[in-house]
Amino acid sequence: MSREEINFLVSGYVSGTVPDYQMAAFAMAVYFRGMTGQETLDLTRALERSGETISLDEIPGIKVDKHSTGGVGDTTTLVLAPLVAAAGVPVAKISGRGLGHTGGTLDKLEAIPGFTTNLSFEAMIRAVKNYGVALVGQSRDLVPADRKLYALRDVTATADSLPLIAASIMSKKLAAGADALVLDVKTGDGAFLKDPEEAFALARTMVKIGSGAGRETVAIITGMEQPLGKAIGNALEVEEAILTLQGRGPADLEELCLVLGSYMLLLARKVSTPEQGRKRLKALLTSGAALQKFKELISSQGGDPAVVDNRLLLPQAEYRYPVRAPAGGFVSSIRAEIIGRAAMKLGAGRVSRESRIDPAAGIVLRKKIGDRVSRGEELAVIAGGTVPISSARETVSRGVRDAFIIKSEPPQSEPLVRGYVDQFGEKHY
Ligand code: URA
Ligand code: CA
Repeated sequence: MSREEINFLVSGYVSGTVPDYQMAAFAMAVYFRGMTGQETLDLTRALERSGETISLDEIPGIKVDKHSTGGVGDTTTLVLAPLVAAAGVPVAKISGRGLGHTGGTLDKLEAIPGFTTNLSFEAMIRAVKNYGVALVGQSRDLVPADRKLYALRDVTATADSLPLIAASIMSKKLAAGADALVLDVKTGDGAFLKDPEEAFALARTMVKIGSGAGRETVAIITGMEQPLGKAIGNALEVEEAILTLQGRGPADLEELCLVLGSYMLLLARKVSTPEQGRKRLKALLTSGAALQKFKELISSQGGDPAVVDNRLLLPQAEYRYPVRAPAGGFVSSIRAEIIGRAAMKLGAGRVSRESRIDPAAGIVLRKKIGDRVSRGEELAVIAGGTVPISSARETVSRGVRDAFIIKSEPPQSEPLVRGYVDQFGEKHY
């Protein structure tokens, strides 16, 4: 299709002259036949320009954004945003809410008493100019064509199409205005792309869109064989983020933040190699500068920064209940999606868009892949309040217990980072 044809289709779809059934036929054709690189880029740009776009030009420096294809217990943004901001990279980030079994950064931040993510884009830009970082929700209509198309794909079994996924994600990132972009593309049981080669393919498609649109983009392929870190749930993840910013967080979460952060510093031209970036970021964790930046972020957005030094100021669960190992052995996997669903049932996530979140609810893993367990030992602790403890005890704890796959032999260890796709679209393992 020519660029003109794609523009005609997308603008007609938004204005209503192209009906759903025509767009559904188009989506199904793409699902079966794919799109060329040029078509994918043209579709992305047509979506991007279907509504308002943000300009961050007023903020000095190279603005680098990060996007993750979504995981369970993914506390990364809470750590990464203040961490790279402390290194002098301006972060103006638009985040989303959780739906279904995956959590959302906005819900996590709102577990901090007083914190608001409801800033206008003008206020976001002001905050970044003053403090170097802002994390906000989408207050106006960015990329309306994607919202409409995504809903249509969902009900026509065409969601699972590589060019459509890439265009959907990248249109929103381009509209958000950053100069450069680091993508975290998840693979493994807990990710929506289970096969690493598929994850690499999506990564390459997105990197080429980014470069084609004049935004330097790299993608890191990372494993989601288990939830990230130990905490799943909003206030629990704020606590985990604070620990990580103190250099005392779970190893996998810290590692992912250092990897993604070092590429953000590289694209922002703050360092000339990822290794230098990692060293710089490590130093900011050790010195307390990253934690200090998190405090500034919290108070700049109306929250109580005292939570950083006193976790009891965060919402507290009414009950905590242990889940114990039915047998001894080694943890060989922790089904992330099942854990995510269990956390959602406890009130950490939304069953529907209208559900109310219990900020204190969630799950803390006591064991991770590779750990040895004996029968009766704690695998995890469930925390809740809005769901009666009787039903949490029965249904949720059974789900969490079944999510742990325990074998007699230790599992082969897989690295968190499977490889990356550089700004030219080349794969590296
Ligand atoms: N995330 C998106 O925003 N769009 C998709 O199509 C898939 C994941
Ligand atoms: Ca976590």
